[in-house]
Amino acid sequence: ATNRTFTMIKPDGVENGHIGAILEKITASGFRIVAMKLTQMTKADAEAFYAVHNERPFFGELVEFMTRGPIVAAILEKENAVADFRTLIGATNPADAAEGTIRALYATSVGENAVHGSDSDENAAIEGAFHFAGREMF
Ligand code: CMP
Repeated sequence: ATNRTFTMIKPDGVENGHIGAILEKITASGFRIVAMKLTQMTKADAEAFYAVHNERPFFGELVEFMTRGPIVAAILEKENAVADFRTLIGATNPADAAEGTIRALYATSVGENAVHGSDSDENAAIEGAFHFAGREMF
């Protein structure tokens, strides 16, 4: 079925000048952009967005990284969007990411891995609603 996923081009992807190349791969792969903006998360935003990881040893580093500069937040729609987007971005650690995936091409490390992709339909809806009001979704 057609469904939606949520993505962010993370601060490293923006800093390294990869917004255009990443969006080109996303749209060329058949995703329709439902919502999109350049924004920056506050510390409170990142702590809430990543609350599921708050016991992890890398939590502080993750919050620091995700707030250090602007991100591109977007909601994407496609047949099988959540799973197909995770295939397109590749494994969390770029060293394990398949050739041609966004992380293989543009990520620098497991922490600074260029893009986010929701891991379920439920989280896609939660994460999309975290960043966008209904009137910003088209
Ligand atoms: P993502 O899967 O988008 O969301 C959770 C993030 O935590 C993940 O991307 C990485 O950016 C980060 N992360 C996961 N594992 C580690 C790790 N071992 N060290 C630092 N950051 C990590």
